[in-house]
Amino acid sequence: MIKAIRGTRDILPPSSAVWNHVESVTRETFRVFNYHEIRTPIFEETTLFARGVGAETDIVSKEMYTWDDRDGTSITLRPENTASVIRAYIEHRLDQITGLKKLFYIGPMFRRERPQKGRYRQFFQIGAEAIGSDSPAIDAEVIELALEILERCGVTGSRLLINSVGDPESRQRYTDALREALEPVKDQLSPDNQRRAVTNPLRVLDSKDPGDEAIITTLPSIHEFLNEECRTHFARVRELLDARGVDYEVRPRLVRGLDYYTKTTFEILHGALGAQNAVCGGGRYDGLAESLGSRVPAPGIGFSIGEDRLVMTIEESLNAAALAPLDLFIAPLGADAGVHAALLASELRRAGVVVEVSTDAKLKRALETANKLNARYSLILGDNEIAAGVYALKNMATGEQKNVARGGIVSAMRGESDA
Ligand code: HAM
Repeated sequence: MIKAIRGTRDILPPSSAVWNHVESVTRETFRVFNYHEIRTPIFEETTLFARGVGAETDIVSKEMYTWDDRDGTSITLRPENTASVIRAYIEHRLDQITGLKKLFYIGPMFRRERPQKGRYRQFFQIGAEAIGSDSPAIDAEVIELALEILERCGVTGSRLLINSVGDPESRQRYTDALREALEPVKDQLSPDNQRRAVTNPLRVLDSKDPGDEAIITTLPSIHEFLNEECRTHFARVRELLDARGVDYEVRPRLVRGLDYYTKTTFEILHGALGAQNAVCGGGRYDGLAESLGSRVPAPGIGFSIGEDRLVMTIEESLNAAALAPLDLFIAPLGADAGVHAALLASELRRAGVVVEVSTDAKLKRALETANKLNARYSLILGDNEIAAGVYALKNMATGEQKNVARGGIVSAMRGESDA
């Protein structure tokens, strides 16, 4: 028996209708914010993620699906998409096209994490990247966009956490301070964090090791080290969020699990998700393009929503079957009626009606199927109906039956008076 690989899943109907619903709501939201879709490859050169996301991060050091291609190139299934989007931005010289590049993507990402509720090895992200401006106005708009997608999808009760991780200069001073503060206590940390305390102390703040929590809370806050520019930027982002009436909590230890962030970082949490409670994460990455070899600066900010988690938070409150309803079930009686039913079905489908034609020879069985499929209407087609050109359309919820002419089926189903 061959089964799906651990940490991967099949998304089946009716749940797939919820996914489609989320994606169409999302696409419409991106449209009104003037974002355009980018599709990048699912695998890239490993160096892209090592340099972009950071070699010291959990994602790169432990969680990537990496292999050597036949020509010896090291290839990795993308664990995230921001590095790929910036790679494409640089490769296609998108900086030479006027205006801010506002790009979105929806697709699978791969991380070899320990699978649990809300955490998979193949998962889907809905992401946005606004590239080409370092204005705090973009930060506020990007955060608004993430919240707007969640709201339009029907997510309620989420919490927005924000922070500033500063620019390289502020962060260097903070990193030195962290290293100094960690030096006397680092032997008490978990082995991973002992290493990070020296190589990349900021990563200690992002540690998921509960045993290190007590030490982490005693460490200095980044806000003491932000320079004037970073402080002003963060204040402006907050001001613009306040003006929008957006609620948020400032979390000085929110450094996020990727190394490319500068200035604004944010996360959106949802209580119903349990331990894996982040439904969205994002932030600004003003130096990412340069670290990938671009000579042209490309400051940007973006986010990714975990689509699996988004679906989890709304699935129970949605009637998945109602998102993909069957309008009409046609039950033909006999071979001639079968031909007639097929033609009638083609005609109605062209008019946008969702039609299913029965393959059950027995009427009783056909009607049972119509019930099980939750068809809104059913129509029995026998020789008499064909000869008269009048059909008995049955409303399955009320049991009410109505005789309608062929041309009146659509309007009768829409609840309009017979045309
Ligand atoms: P991230 O925080 O690593 O950020 O991932 C964003 C979201 O993806 C998480 O909040 C979570 O909802 C979802 N996610 C991550 N890992 C898993 C998993 N194993 N299973 C299910 N869902 C998962 C990024 O990936 C950045 N690229 C976001 C970004 C875009 N920053 C700037 N632009």
